[in-house]
Amino acid sequence: MSYHPDAIAPHGGELINRVASSEQREVFLSKADFLPRVTLDERAVSDLEMIAIGGFSPLIGFMNQADYDRVVTEMRLGNGLLWSIPITLSVTEENAAPLQPGGLVRLDNPNGKFIGVLELSEKYSYDKKCEVINVYRTDDIKHPGVQVVYNQGSVNLAGDIWLLQRDSHPQFPSYQIDPAPSRQMFREKGWKTIVGFQTRNPIHRAHEYIQKCALETVDGLFLHPLVGATKEDDIPADVRMRCYEILIKHYYPLDRVILAINPAAMRYAGPREAMFHALVRKNYGCTHFIVGRDHAGVGDYYGTYDAQYIFDEFAPEELGIVPMKFEHAFYCTRTKQMATTKTSPSRPEERVHLSGTKVREMLRRGELPPPEFSRPEVVGELARAMSISQPALA
Ligand code: ADX
Repeated sequence: MSYHPDAIAPHGGELINRVASSEQREVFLSKADFLPRVTLDERAVSDLEMIAIGGFSPLIGFMNQADYDRVVTEMRLGNGLLWSIPITLSVTEENAAPLQPGGLVRLDNPNGKFIGVLELSEKYSYDKKCEVINVYRTDDIKHPGVQVVYNQGSVNLAGDIWLLQRDSHPQFPSYQIDPAPSRQMFREKGWKTIVGFQTRNPIHRAHEYIQKCALETVDGLFLHPLVGATKEDDIPADVRMRCYEILIKHYYPLDRVILAINPAAMRYAGPREAMFHALVRKNYGCTHFIVGRDHAGVGDYYGTYDAQYIFDEFAPEELGIVPMKFEHAFYCTRTKQMATTKTSPSRPEERVHLSGTKVREMLRRGELPPPEFSRPEVVGELARAMSISQPALA
């Protein structure tokens, strides 16, 4: 497999662009008052955006039944291409009833702003239990991804979409780097191999360790924190982004790292989502993707390395991006450095490991993570953001 970004094809071969041209936009705007409308929730807004900018290539719209059924049961689109997460637009029967396949539907954001158009091709009902058992490996309503499926409407609207215009991100405009520009940046930097990193948690030293281990073997690191919808108790994206800025400034080689936002929403689908995260980063031009412990997991629904095993089920050529798998990393008090059981002879009591969940719980209790877990500058930012006093650093 060749790794030059010019040769790293987007998933399915073509980088999709479904942002309306100014002429198309004028036409859509002139019809705005006459089109039936559907109001998107935060996740559907992200999905619309990700499809339009090519992050979800080869998708050009919300899935029809043929794609949906095969993705749910086989992790493949109707044409056989690997794809692990259903991207659907679900509405209630009542909202679906007046919509006519063959017509246009106006898509509004939750504030009632006209942001996109759906060329409605099909309406279909679907089996929620079958979806969650296959995609999330559980039908437990307490799972945040399962909850979304059970709470959403029972009819999926399918069809190609257009995003009316690409607005700058309200919070992180300078980190909004879409797939075509990220590919261009990699090319300009002369990077032939690029590792992508997904995260939804404040950066800690295990993250830093696995990122830097990966960077030892590739040309560049694409730090791609997810800033779309997350579950309520996750740390807000602006706090996480500030932690990243601070850490990069103090501890990273600036010519080897690009920080950019991933506007997608979290699904918490563990193994299936790890594969999806990798395919999305392939679309951004990455050749490699980091998968550590319990990637995209939540609670105890997935085994520690299930998100790594799923990649073994498919041929490397089908994936088109190389998963870089990492063991559970910790701070080793015996060797006084970050390590895993592969690289340290420590006994369990000599290992400091915290999870994102444990850190969130500590912060909620007004406690700060220890220096073995987080760099002091990051702890300082978390303390400031969560209004926790910092006796240890004062
Ligand atoms: S995720 O939901 O976005 O996967 P998180 O931000 O915690 O959550 O993780 C980002 C990446 O770092 C994932 O690939 C995850 O597996 C990995 N990771 C997090 N903590 C550790 C750790 N202690 N050891 C190894 N990998 C880790």
